[in-house]
Amino acid sequence: MSSTHTAAAYTNLTLERKDAVAIVTIARPEKLNALNRAVLGEIDHVFTALAADASVRAIVVTGAGEKSFVAGADIGELSVLDTRGAEEASAYGSAIFRRIERMRAPVIAAVNGFALGGGCELAIACHMRYASEKAKFGLPEVGLGIIPGYGGTQRLPRLVGLGIASELIATGRMVDANEALRIGLVNRVVPAAELMDAVLALAGEIASKAPLAVAAALEAARLGLETDLDTGLRFESTLFGILGSTKDMHDGLSAFVEKRKPTFEGR
Ligand code: COA
Repeated sequence: MSSTHTAAAYTNLTLERKDAVAIVTIARPEKLNALNRAVLGEIDHVFTALAADASVRAIVVTGAGEKSFVAGADIGELSVLDTRGAEEASAYGSAIFRRIERMRAPVIAAVNGFALGGGCELAIACHMRYASEKAKFGLPEVGLGIIPGYGGTQRLPRLVGLGIASELIATGRMVDANEALRIGLVNRVVPAAELMDAVLALAGEIASKAPLAVAAALEAARLGLETDLDTGLRFESTLFGILGSTKDMHDGLSAFVEKRKPTFEGR
């Protein structure tokens, strides 16, 4: 792959590996990890690289510093855009988040603080979310005269339902971690000091399963929400059939019969 970044050359994020789990930490803490073009470009690059690495079986996304996951798109950059530039900026970030949502390896947001605007949209583009007790979520865009532009108007209603999403979007109000849990915006809330351990335990559990099966199951679930039930069911059966040709399926099923542990190789 042609590359203008190496792992060491990222300046706005860090990439670490813990066995089969990749950890992406967005790191622009002096601006609460706000997403300017440079940050988005590096997120785009790192997810393209991770998508090409079959040894990655789960990905964690978090924010550097105590205070913030991501405090949104960079408001200074947005403030100078004209109509064409604003549309292009929205489409650019939106395409990156769409790619995150379509990653084969599940992406888990470890929400350590503010997840506002584009930060909330990044979290909800991930496959699942754990939050620290200090996390705060919100889509404050209408208070700035704009609307959520990286998928928030589409994904928040799908995640928490149209009524609650409409209230959050139209008021721009922040919700704390416990309210986020209650409305289904996050899967689990843990004390701040335990967030990474909890997320890495989840990622490790996922990484121990058959990776092609995990990817197929989550793709069927996501596509099912984007289409009608018959098409979704047909797609599920098609993927079920395709997995029949994998070594992992044969090993997984025979391991059960032979009372041994399977060895999943991702093929
Ligand atoms: N874009 C650009 N810069 C941002 C930012 C954003 N979305 N969010 C925070 N920052 C910057 C601040 O301007 C400040 O920079 P400075 O020190 O050079 O002045 C720095 O990050 C720290 O933020 P600050 O506002 O001083 O921290 P706080 O604890 O008082 O408030 C927030 C925290 C998150 C409530 C507040 O920063 C905020 O409301 N941010 C904007 C959130 C938002 O509307 N996001 C959606 C954008 S579309």
